[in-house]
Amino acid sequence: MSEDVQGQAAEASESSESSEATIAVHWREEGYYPPPPKFIGQANASDPAILDRFAEENFPECFREYADLLHWDEYWHTTLDTSDPPFWKWFADGKLNASYNCVDRHLARDRNKAALIWVPEPEDAGDTVVTYQELYRRVNEFAAVLQDLGVQAGDRVTLHMPMVPELPVTMLACARLGAVHSQVFAGFSGAACGGRIADSGSKILITMDAYYRSGDLLDHKVKADEAVEAARKEGQEVDKVLVWRRFPGQYSAKTPMVESRDVFVDELLAEHQGAVVEPVSMPAEAPLFLMYTSGTTGRPKGCQHSTGGYLSYVTGTSRFYQDIHPDDTYWCMADIGWITGHSYIVYGPLSCGTTSVIYEGTPNYPDAGRPWRIAERLGVNIFHTSPTAIRMLRKVGPDEPAKYNYHFKHMTTVGEPIEPEVYRWYFNTVGKGEAVIVDTWWQTETGGFIGTGLPGIHAMKPGSCGPAALGVYLQILDENGDPLPPGSGKAGNITARNPWPGIFQTIWGQPDRFVSTYFAKYNKDPDSQDWRDWPYFAGDGAVQASDGYFRILGRVDDVINVAGHRLGTKELESSALAVQEVAEAAAVPVIDDVRGRVVEMYVSLKPGYTASAEVEAKVKTAIETDIGKIARPKNIWIVPDMPKTRSGKIMRRVIAATSNFADVGDITTLANPEVVEQIRHQVQAAKVSRGEVPRELTETEEAEIKAFGSEG
Ligand code: WTA
Repeated sequence: MSEDVQGQAAEASESSESSEATIAVHWREEGYYPPPPKFIGQANASDPAILDRFAEENFPECFREYADLLHWDEYWHTTLDTSDPPFWKWFADGKLNASYNCVDRHLARDRNKAALIWVPEPEDAGDTVVTYQELYRRVNEFAAVLQDLGVQAGDRVTLHMPMVPELPVTMLACARLGAVHSQVFAGFSGAACGGRIADSGSKILITMDAYYRSGDLLDHKVKADEAVEAARKEGQEVDKVLVWRRFPGQYSAKTPMVESRDVFVDELLAEHQGAVVEPVSMPAEAPLFLMYTSGTTGRPKGCQHSTGGYLSYVTGTSRFYQDIHPDDTYWCMADIGWITGHSYIVYGPLSCGTTSVIYEGTPNYPDAGRPWRIAERLGVNIFHTSPTAIRMLRKVGPDEPAKYNYHFKHMTTVGEPIEPEVYRWYFNTVGKGEAVIVDTWWQTETGGFIGTGLPGIHAMKPGSCGPAALGVYLQILDENGDPLPPGSGKAGNITARNPWPGIFQTIWGQPDRFVSTYFAKYNKDPDSQDWRDWPYFAGDGAVQASDGYFRILGRVDDVINVAGHRLGTKELESSALAVQEVAEAAAVPVIDDVRGRVVEMYVSLKPGYTASAEVEAKVKTAIETDIGKIARPKNIWIVPDMPKTRSGKIMRRVIAATSNFADVGDITTLANPEVVEQIRHQVQAAKVSRGEVPRELTETEEAEIKAFGSEG
């Protein structure tokens, strides 16, 4: 450890005495942590010449370096085709297969190496080790099952699967056939899954009967029935529900199978033992998968990712930013149901030919030592998780990591800003001062990291994601589209001035929404075929320090980031509005020291109804049914009226300020200013009596709350 780092470590151990409540009160500019020399010595990227190779004058050809990490059946002729902006085509006319790249091509050298190590949640159950050879067998056999059911290239297939090895097998089997998988996070409700089935036009749903979560074996099949029903209401029939069994041969759900529609996968597989399915050679621009995410309307967006561009980008970033080598044991504790798991549990790591660990359960089950026991037992040396998980593990087991003999060379953080104090615990206690931390800023839409430092080259700075990623030219613009100079200390909208291979291709079925949400804001000439005229608007606020490092401040739209997961206020509100008694609804974020943000819901009732615990419960149930438990509001406030502008728009920033005990700001434009005080009294008195008074907000948090919500 260098002196610098030791000094910081000493400072950090002092400050970890301070209480949770002081975290992030002040985010001053932090000092740098240089990467340990031992790390640099082995890093995939340690020569700064790589920065020149990806400099703007070498764009877009610089990205050949990523594409050349793959096996192409046919080489592409144009690296970036800009003829139909902003529908970019990367590696145009190239052909490849994603499953071949993640599986087959590793067989010659590494057939007996573990591709996946699956750790079931019950601690006495053994791991399942899936070698590359075994993965090849399983992917082929399941691809044969799908082929037998008529699945073809271009068909959409919805998956609603938990964290089991059958999930990557299913994804790769779809990819082998060129079918487009759309995996829905298992924690989402059946109705949420059904909406995604309908939107994508899937005729097949693939699920599992049950899985373990916090010690319980949950019936998951029940959600499939709800999903099929919800899809039918939107006009989409599901012909087949394929049910993997958590324990093959034994059904673990109570929900009955529906005759002729529902089939056990293990029974179908028995008919296809030893089957080999030729990987279908797909155009680079063929869609590989859809990943739905929340936005500013009630309807989630199916982000469509390409085969060639996406796979190149996640392979390149896994190699240079995650520093994945084929002989590493890599563990990303995210869920495959989110983009992080797609890019950095399945496609990136497997394409790099490494060993990827998959854990079924919750990180603190049965206790806060679980992740560190797994890391010690499996020899994990690259660890990847979210600030919410780090905060939670720090809270419940601050001294646990020291009890276990594991050694990380590299740790990732993703999904939310990480407070410097939490960062220091991650560095000193989890990483034992030996591991680099790579804070990665990106989105479902971006496919892979776009703001983050190169761990063998750039020093780390707690709380900042770092500079722009290789070949991505980030810039902060003001509302008029003028750039804010680095170091100005001013917050603005972070944009990427150029496309990169991992960027999503469109919103499934809604190309206009794709253009209007992400590009219209800063595009000055819709006819231009020059990529420079099409900055990508990410929807996040940020500041750039004079060293060029970016600090992400959070969403500037109607999205609330709960524990690193995006929830759209409109989605939450439309489900509350479906409750018969509810007249109006508004969802706002509340600062939370573990989950980052949590949701509070304000509702007013139709005439003739009175507030009751029953109505509150109905709203909660509606949200859990439509979206899932993850979206359950912390509080539901039934208020006499909403603060509104004269044109009748709800002012979310006023109620957000109320929930966070912040200054409500200027309310002179309100039609009903008197209700502000009434609501404040009602909500804050209840919070005081429940012991929910928040700590003092930081300046950035205060700014976020003040800016929250369009006034619609
Ligand atoms: C936020 C997750 C700060 C951001 C990969 C973004 C972050 C949203 C970071 C995307 C980070 C992601 N620091 N904030 N390192 N990474 N975010 O689509 O607001 O689930 O827009 O993708 O998470 O969330 P999504």
